[in-house]
Amino acid sequence: MGRVNALAPNDPSADDRSDAPDPLAAFLALRTPEGAALLDELRSYDPAQELATATRLRRTHPAALVSAALGQARLRQRAVAKFGTEDAYRMFFTPNGVEQATRTSVAAHRARRFAKTGAVRTVADLCCGIGGDAIALARAGISVLAVDRDPLTAEVARANAAALGLDELIEVRCADVAEIDTAPYDAVFVDPARRGGRGRIFDPEAYSPPLSWATGAALAAPRAALKIAPGIPHEAIPAQAEAEWISDGGDVKEAVLWFGEGFAAGSYRATVLPAGATLWSGAPLPAAPVGPVGRYLYEPDGAVIRAHLVADIVARCEGRLIDETIAYITGDRPYESPYTSGYEITDELPFNMKKLKALLRERKVGVLTVKKRGSAVEPEELRRRMKLQGPNSATVFLTRVAGAPTMLIGHPLTGPA
Ligand SMILES: C[S@@+](CC[C@H](N)C(=O)[O-])C[C@H]1O[C@@H](n2cnc3c(N)ncnc32)[C@H](O)[C@@H]1O
Repeated sequence: MGRVNALAPNDPSADDRSDAPDPLAAFLALRTPEGAALLDELRSYDPAQELATATRLRRTHPAALVSAALGQARLRQRAVAKFGTEDAYRMFFTPNGVEQATRTSVAAHRARRFAKTGAVRTVADLCCGIGGDAIALARAGISVLAVDRDPLTAEVARANAAALGLDELIEVRCADVAEIDTAPYDAVFVDPARRGGRGRIFDPEAYSPPLSWATGAALAAPRAALKIAPGIPHEAIPAQAEAEWISDGGDVKEAVLWFGEGFAAGSYRATVLPAGATLWSGAPLPAAPVGPVGRYLYEPDGAVIRAHLVADIVARCEGRLIDETIAYITGDRPYESPYTSGYEITDELPFNMKKLKALLRERKVGVLTVKKRGSAVEPEELRRRMKLQGPNSATVFLTRVAGAPTMLIGHPLTGPA
């Protein structure tokens, strides 16, 4: 399959095999009518009552099946945050599978971008996990070859395709990605395993498969997307890629490297979900101006910061940075956008806990939101020391203004005060 490097011997996906005696057999038992009935019964199960529930079910079902069903019920509850209630309770998971799966909102955004090229009808999803991305691709009308080398994970992906009525569009293959000929596919998607036995892996060459392998597979295909950690240094981004950072509900979820026609090599993009708004620059932006704190403060979304597009927002709101090293923007006019949270600033003081406590007491602040950039103070510790009392609320920013530790006090422009 074109230019590929050998897979790393240090394989973080090795722990994808559960420590249960025979997880695949336990999973297959859940797919029998008895297993399915048990899972139905556990739909509204209360984890606080787990022991009582297990004892009751073991009177009429084999103990191993009950424990597999309870495990699956727990995983479904965890999966609701990513897949929503309706899908999560039809789908199946493994502990690593639910942890590593792409959430529906992000996977659907990515699938839409592939579909919008008008040229992607088939995708080889290399490293499909339990199928988070394969499902979104299929729902965008794309036929998917979904590959995972872990037999249990592949079986779960197969079960998910069937459970969601997408088995006509998703073919699951249990294989090593290095064995797959991707030539017949319009595009390749790679989501390498980034967790090993000792937790998260930061070195892209320690991913399974390594980033250099995934990049080789991407460059050999007409179009491709690689899912990577949002913390990737910009220097590590291949010149042929468009880099996109995606946030959902204010949290940065991932970065994607796009390759091929329809994607702009060398460009940077920040996409903010659920709004679906996207900010783009064809090249790195010049530094933004820095100046005194004005009436308003704007906190850029994490995707904008990671994509190094803060200077674009500074220009849009006709503002300036409060410090050349801090991603807080200030301005003199109100500005609303999906890329920022805005605040009206009432006070600017040198950092001083005693003064802050006195001011909050005078203003009868009982609820304090603490935000910080460029400060080592722990928000919880600060809140505890303030001994907050009163009916009012406020936001304090612990930061630096022109290099000096500073407290900015204010309230959000929209939403709860
Ligand atoms: C991050 S997960 C994929 C999650 C998936 N995109 C989703 O949304 O559900 C990575 C998967 O890659 C698989 N994997 C790692 N190395 C592999 C290899 N060399 N060949 C095939 N699968 C591999 C692991 O078993 C794991 O399930």
